[in-house]
Amino acid sequence: MQRVIPIESPFFIKEEELEGVPDWQAIFGNDHPLALEIGCGIGDFIVKMAEEHSERNHIAIDFYNKGCLKTCKRVDKAGLTNVRVLRVEARKFIAERIPKESLAAVYINCPDPWPKKKHRKRRMVNRQFVEFLREYLAPGADFYFATDFDDYGIDVAQMMPEVEGFDNCQAPELYSHDIPGYHRTKYMLKFMDEGKRIYFVHYRKA
Ligand SMILES: C[S@@+](CC[C@H](N)C(=O)[O-])C[C@H]1O[C@@H](n2cnc3c(N)ncnc32)[C@H](O)[C@@H]1O
Repeated sequence: MQRVIPIESPFFIKEEELEGVPDWQAIFGNDHPLALEIGCGIGDFIVKMAEEHSERNHIAIDFYNKGCLKTCKRVDKAGLTNVRVLRVEARKFIAERIPKESLAAVYINCPDPWPKKKHRKRRMVNRQFVEFLREYLAPGADFYFATDFDDYGIDVAQMMPEVEGFDNCQAPELYSHDIPGYHRTKYMLKFMDEGKRIYFVHYRKA
């Protein structure tokens, strides 16, 4: 079993120390809107977003301990105060710790693709997940999904118009292979190096 390195960082919130829905304004020390990255990996994306959007508070989550550690180090190095990192499972965390209609943006970059057909049901982003997430998005909130997996990208792109309460920011296209200004993550760069295309899906809660 992989050793879990304890994370001692002012930016890391230990899930076990939380009770109920946290007071995020108190945690960040201001009432700025919240943005959430699900599966932050090594934290390269959220650091760039937090640098660009000092008017937002950013929550970066991943259930990969080493990733959380790396993310905290990056946040520290960048001197950011508007990021908090948690080692949690996304659905459970959102349901238990995020106030309804509070998120101004959600980013999901290269989620685990579960390429085998028999494992597809394990994919995080599907209709049920987006309907669940909708409850936690503020009106006008952005939802971004990016993957290098053709059938994951196309599935999500075709599913989104069926979900009520969202507007397609890329209409009439269902997806694009580029969103100008959208930061490339470690995984995106790796896949692009292999010659793969990234599928970007961008919707806004109505
Ligand atoms: C393929 S990596 C992509 C990392 C990063 N977003 C990037 O694009 O470079 C997927 C990440 O999502 C995390 N992850 C997958 N399912 C998750 C879940 N249900 N809750 C939290 N993190 C999850 C994994 O631990 C992993 O770090």
